[in-house]
Amino acid sequence: MPADTPQIPEHIAIIMDGNGRWAKSHGVPRARGHEEGGKTVQRVIDLCREKGVKWLTLYAFSTENWGRSKLEVTALMRMLVKYLYERLPEMMEKNVRAHAIGELYMLPPKAQEALKYVIEQTKGNTGLNAVLALSYGSRQEITAAARSLAEDVKAGRLEPADITPDMLASRLYTAGMPDPDLLIRTSGELRISNYLLWQISYAEIHVTDVLWPDFGRADFDAALADYAARHRRYGKR
Ligand code: IPE
Ligand code: IPE
Ligand code: MG
Repeated sequence: MPADTPQIPEHIAIIMDGNGRWAKSHGVPRARGHEEGGKTVQRVIDLCREKGVKWLTLYAFSTENWGRSKLEVTALMRMLVKYLYERLPEMMEKNVRAHAIGELYMLPPKAQEALKYVIEQTKGNTGLNAVLALSYGSRQEITAAARSLAEDVKAGRLEPADITPDMLASRLYTAGMPDPDLLIRTSGELRISNYLLWQISYAEIHVTDVLWPDFGRADFDAALADYAARHRRYGKR
């Protein structure tokens, strides 16, 4: 495809940041910011469907986010459960398939149940794949993959010299998914915060100052326009 042809990324990964700052600027509790952020999720799912994006991976809760106050963590987990059940009919109607990546066993039982249910119910859907990164940390993910390879080596099933990048990738939570083409971070921080370190090796990065609850169609379009203007060279010339 010529470089000047607008291209739609197959997979968009988003670091949904700025809910707390949004809440602060509106003089409301942080939990309200997260609630508003939930509405943005729905908006962005619709925008992805409209543009024909096939995969959307959302950083909803990091391994490090467990270190936040009990109040905030509990509110977030409660919201997750509510969101999943409330949005399921809409996901069915819109042909959205849900997935989750991360150390899901760390989540409260009710959240695990809700996730399992929604993933199971939507598994026949063939439209947008919406991936929630929950209790997710990239270093933890890569460590677990390395451990699983080490176990195979120890058991004599695998030679260290035979380990390939594809083999390691197949043991990540994202096995079978395409790598993100575009990574969007809202609220202006220029960092990755332990997100998809392996998978974003060649993703184009778009950072916007807009806070996640305020992220709308114009911001999404701007990210896509930025992406379409990039020349992805993959080290080649
Ligand atoms: C992102 O918003 C949502 C989560 C990390 C759960 P933040 O809560 O990080 O918002 P800021 O960074 O404090 O504004
Ligand atoms: C990254 O945002 C995690 C999520 C968006 C879920 P954080 O707000 O936790 O990251 P830092 O603290 O700015 O690195
Ligand atoms: Mg933040």
